[in-house]
Amino acid sequence: MKYNQVRLNCGATIPTMGFGTYSSQNDREETKQAVHTALKQDVFRFLDENDLKECCCELQMGYRHFDTAKIYGSEAAVGEALREAIFEDQMIEREDIFLTSKLWGSDHHDSVSALKQTLQRLGMEYVDMYLVHWPVKLKPWANNAVPKEDEFERLLDLETTWAGMERCLDMGMCRCIGVSNFSTNKIQSLLDFASVAPALNQVEMHPMWRQTKLREFCRDHKIHVSAYSPLGGPGNSWGSTAVVDNPIIQSIALKHHATTAQVALRWGLSKGASVIVKSFNEERMKENMGALDLRLDDHDLLNIEKMEERKIMRGEFLVNQTTSPYKTIQDLWDGEI
Ligand SMILES: NC(=O)c1ccc[n+]([C@@H]2O[C@H](COP(=O)([O-])OP(=O)(O)OC[C@H]3O[C@@H](n4cnc5c(N)ncnc54)[C@H](OP(=O)(O)O)[C@@H]3O)[C@@H](O)[C@H]2O)c1
Repeated sequence: MKYNQVRLNCGATIPTMGFGTYSSQNDREETKQAVHTALKQDVFRFLDENDLKECCCELQMGYRHFDTAKIYGSEAAVGEALREAIFEDQMIEREDIFLTSKLWGSDHHDSVSALKQTLQRLGMEYVDMYLVHWPVKLKPWANNAVPKEDEFERLLDLETTWAGMERCLDMGMCRCIGVSNFSTNKIQSLLDFASVAPALNQVEMHPMWRQTKLREFCRDHKIHVSAYSPLGGPGNSWGSTAVVDNPIIQSIALKHHATTAQVALRWGLSKGASVIVKSFNEERMKENMGALDLRLDDHDLLNIEKMEERKIMRGEFLVNQTTSPYKTIQDLWDGEI
């Protein structure tokens, strides 16, 4: 197995450097171009002395793990770029790519039809990972990223949703199934009835939201943790520059002649997570890939543990006093915030 991959409980391997495709502009051409550019970010990365005796470096192929979702509106662009790279340019095989998409709340009633539509938009026969995007079920006709009050179902009914996810797996439309934005409590409830355990939980994770409890729980249950907003989402309307501008991260970056983004990404990787970082800028794509070369020492990791914690994506838009099953932010995250 390659160094920058992790084997999941579903048998698939996931490249630890993932490429995010959420962009508020949601411009099809820009997203498509970004995926093409990301695929080409080959770099030589140096190996640890212990990694390989004879050679000191290996060719790190460009990004091979792509993250999309129905609600991002990026599936069609991502699929088109990947199909061009596979079938027209013949630069990669489908098997070289790890492709994730996600089930939106309004599709919890029928995961199978939702995944069929996702595959149609992607122009793919299967995705590698299909995730329940949020532990929130919406009315089937709801189509807003920020649900209106009358669009919530009062009951989560995860058992029905997960049975649909398992059917998607049985039908060969995905290689693995998992969840996103799930607390340890919610994963535990899921495990109580699931025939197939989730392979992965995709959650916000960065040096200022370290997910210590969740990571421990997931490790004990062989569930991989994937880190979204690994830089804290600077530039997003809801994001923050608090991570990349943090003085502790800056001083570690200075010490290693690295950038703060590389330190944040390396921290996530050093905790065994895969990181899903979004950049549509070629220089920053390269820079982010450079995190694979960075090594943080124990002192750096201890300093990061001292940083104040602050969740950036709090999910307020899924909480209300009347129709949501979550009356408070604490309910949504089961107190893990
Ligand atoms: N499951 C979920 O609920 C969920 C939630 C949020 C996100 N996600 C996934 O995770 C992906 C990444 O999360 P995110 O986009 O929120 O946050 P992020 O990757 O932490 O940050 C992305 C932002 O940082 C900028 N950036 C990238 N590299 C940089 C660097 N080296 N230096 C400075 N700025 C840099 C990007 O701008 P440029 O493009 O201009 O470089 C973009 O504005 C998303 O695209 C999506 O696929 C999933």
